[in-house]
Amino acid sequence: MKICVIGAGYVGLTAGACLSEIGHNVICVDNDKVKINNLKKSIMPFFEPELFEIVSSNLKRRSLSFSLDISDAIKKSDVCFIAVGTPQKADGSCDLSSVFDVAKQIGKSINGYKLIVNKSTSLIGTTEKIKKIIQLETSSDIDVIVNPEFLSQGSAVKNFLKPDRLIIGATSQRAIEIFKKIYSPLLISSERFVVMDEKSAEMTKYASNIFLATKISYMNEIANLCEKVGANINNVKLGMSYDNRIGDKFLNSGIGFGGSCFPKDIEAILSLAKEFNCNLDIVSSVGLVNKNQRKIFLNKILNKFNNNIPNKVFSIWGLSFKPDTSDVRCSPSIDIISFLLDCNAKINVYDPKANNNIKDMFKDKISYFDNPYEALQNADALIILTDWKEFLSPDFNKIKTLLKTSIIFDGRNLYDKNYLLSLGIEYFGIGV
Ligand SMILES: NC(=O)c1ccc[n+]([C@@H]2O[C@H](COP(=O)([O-])OP(=O)(O)OC[C@H]3O[C@@H](n4cnc5c(N)ncnc54)[C@H](O)[C@@H]3O)[C@@H](O)[C@H]2O)c1
Repeated sequence: MKICVIGAGYVGLTAGACLSEIGHNVICVDNDKVKINNLKKSIMPFFEPELFEIVSSNLKRRSLSFSLDISDAIKKSDVCFIAVGTPQKADGSCDLSSVFDVAKQIGKSINGYKLIVNKSTSLIGTTEKIKKIIQLETSSDIDVIVNPEFLSQGSAVKNFLKPDRLIIGATSQRAIEIFKKIYSPLLISSERFVVMDEKSAEMTKYASNIFLATKISYMNEIANLCEKVGANINNVKLGMSYDNRIGDKFLNSGIGFGGSCFPKDIEAILSLAKEFNCNLDIVSSVGLVNKNQRKIFLNKILNKFNNNIPNKVFSIWGLSFKPDTSDVRCSPSIDIISFLLDCNAKINVYDPKANNNIKDMFKDKISYFDNPYEALQNADALIILTDWKEFLSPDFNKIKTLLKTSIIFDGRNLYDKNYLLSLGIEYFGIGV
């Protein structure tokens, strides 16, 4: 099938590349000239496992191409996916202007029946609005459906090619059949292919993201209490995780969540609820607990150094908001680094993939290292902010030798406190 994907970001590029991988002819379009010119040469805008391989092999096979010409891509396609950003406005509400701009362009360019699939996380009622915008520009027959995306950065390709469920909000039988045909190579079992009305599908995406964020904030609150009463959150988590009703995912305590989705989706739903005079007490607490968790962690650092950290040197391992991605959008590392810089501390950082993205923000205010151990030289403490696999079993003796004082602040609870204490390393985790 001929498909165009509008917006070549984390979602659009993954979707476009994977759709070409399963046999479709895909044009990925974006209005970012540098991004598209680079992608034409297989230069990736971000790190995502397995994505480079799929993009470059499908570019070579000519089943995938990149373009700045949205109108041409729409004309050449049977199906158009929308995957542009839906960022947070200053007041917290969801900025849908890119989605609506794209809808208008689709309407202007359309040359016959098209199925439009919105993958951008969009407020409840957006599918209907997209349809109206397109119909203002054209009398061509169209179907507009919503297909919320559940991929997770760091495992996006795997998630796309082996989704645990596919949800669409659609009422047109023709649209449902075309959509099923697109995804038929993935052999999704029928009970995991869920068709519902558009508004419920739009709400499912927000409800899912915010539920996951809620699990994190809940565990962080329990971790904070554990610390006060002398319990260990890692044991508590283990005990909880064997309960099938609870499961073992999203139970890690630490410095809280970041990324481009959870924080903005919480704010978008709160803003929508306010419009409808509907109190969402749990949802608003999730965001507050998350913000507070950074402060609690920073207080541990301040307390250890008696509030005296000007000219102290901190070595930070991990900058991305989660492992296996170079993405630093809303990453806790940004808040932690900003605070420490405001206190006139000196900062050395190491991340396997995200150094350059943090450098775009902090420039020469901090020092960047290509090796985790080099970042430790003469530092007063090591701070762990991302749970990259390579940080799981480091050489603790080397860490001890390189640090000026053997102190680790572990924002991701990666290490065993008692083991580190036995090595003579002072350890501060969350809830342990
Ligand atoms: N990142 C994730 O893990 C994830 C997961 C599920 C859903 N989502 C949702 O998917 C959407 C996209 O997220 P993302 O992380 O891929 O964003 P992104 O910022 O990485 O990508 C968006 C892309 O759209 C392009 N764009 C913006 N306006 C355009 C226009 N008018 N015409 C053409 N291109 C345009 C931008 O240049 C950018 O390359 C958002 O709604 C997000 O909430 C994201």
